[in-house]
Amino acid sequence: MTLNFPPVCLIVLCGASGSGKSTWARRHFLPSQLVSSDQCREMVVDSAASQSANDDAFALFHQWIALRLKNRRLTVADSTALKPGARDRLIALAQEARVPVVVVAFDVPLDEAIRRDSLRTERSVGEKVVTRHRATLEQALRELAKDTRLAALHVLTPEQQDTVTVQTTPGAVAAPAFDVIGDVHGCLPELKSLLTKLGYDHESTHPTGRVPVFVGDLADRGPDSPGVLRFVCDLVAADKALFVPGNHDDKLFRMLQGGKVQRTHGLDLTEEQLLGMPEKERERLTLDILAYLAPQPVHLVLAEGRLAVAHAGIRDDMLGQSSDFITRFTRFGDVRGFAPDGMPLRHDWAAERENGDSGPLICYGHTPQDEIRFVNNTVNLDGGCVFGGFLAALRFPERELVTVPAEHAYAERRGGSAPAE
Ligand code: UTP
Ligand code: MG
Repeated sequence: MTLNFPPVCLIVLCGASGSGKSTWARRHFLPSQLVSSDQCREMVVDSAASQSANDDAFALFHQWIALRLKNRRLTVADSTALKPGARDRLIALAQEARVPVVVVAFDVPLDEAIRRDSLRTERSVGEKVVTRHRATLEQALRELAKDTRLAALHVLTPEQQDTVTVQTTPGAVAAPAFDVIGDVHGCLPELKSLLTKLGYDHESTHPTGRVPVFVGDLADRGPDSPGVLRFVCDLVAADKALFVPGNHDDKLFRMLQGGKVQRTHGLDLTEEQLLGMPEKERERLTLDILAYLAPQPVHLVLAEGRLAVAHAGIRDDMLGQSSDFITRFTRFGDVRGFAPDGMPLRHDWAAERENGDSGPLICYGHTPQDEIRFVNNTVNLDGGCVFGGFLAALRFPERELVTVPAEHAYAERRGGSAPAE
């Protein structure tokens, strides 16, 4: 059995003392991802076993978790979380940070929990406490099963504790081939037609195992940005597609997190479309976008290094690296200043690429093209669909172009794409 967790989420452990929560968490997560109430006790009063400063220890526990979630870090809350109030507090922290909550409950029979507790050298709580905890767990399991605030609930038996594997990042995509898809900008009908033309079935599965790769800018200006986001998010969450965020996606993520962003360049329309959704669906979509799309890397190197994908492109010396500078480059391209009207002054990094044939094919988008051309083993796949152009995909390794025309010009093209903000 494999437990799949969103790349950013709060994992709340729940179980009696001695049931093996900390042991399990240490096995599957980085030390920095674990926040335990015991460690907080130790930090406050030098002893993990001391109950003398519980309020202070839990104040630290909650503050530590809140800060990690604000920074969008996967966090495992290691406490017993047996009482409804304790879980409510953790769930509220996650909701405030718009991070999904997954509960992992440890259903260990009483005699086994007592045995495990008695074997502990560092801190044993005793039979009475374990028995009380075990009784509370029964009630907690009933409540958890009905708790609609959770993205998932996993109840582990002692055997499963030993055997489950954990996945927190999208699976390594060992696809035989890829279909790299240009800027969609809310053009859901064209996206569906393109996938059909590429040979994907109604469940977006390809008979030969090909995988779609989106170059970013899923939303803004087009007729159904929420529909495109829902669709791509589901594929990415199921490891059926890859996605690199573009500048429009990044701005959308910041808006959904409650950040201050200008509703320009089509984000106003996306917001309007989102507000037109039933509240529950919108909330679900927001959480899923932030959990699955927002954490995706800004560039991908695929097919054993023969294919690279980044929204506005990438230079060979940046491949496999990460920095704020590279992130900016992949979002906006090689921008070296601004014209008096605010439009970016771009360098043509693709035209300047040297020895392109010895490097990967670099697929990107960002700036609409009237016609798709290969330049030094790079290709811009933005067919300006939302402006009445076409939606393009490149089959890799075949290097065949597949396009569908826009059903409408959904927006008027003025001057260029969004300035770097
Ligand atoms: P833990 O110390 O991991 O339990 O394991 P816990 O649930 O986190 O307990 P509290 O809430 O912090 O008090 C308890 C003992 O059980 C053993 C561990 O080695 C440890 O001594 N254990 C754990 C097993 O024997 N098998 C397991 O699968 C897990
Ligand atoms: Mg523990």
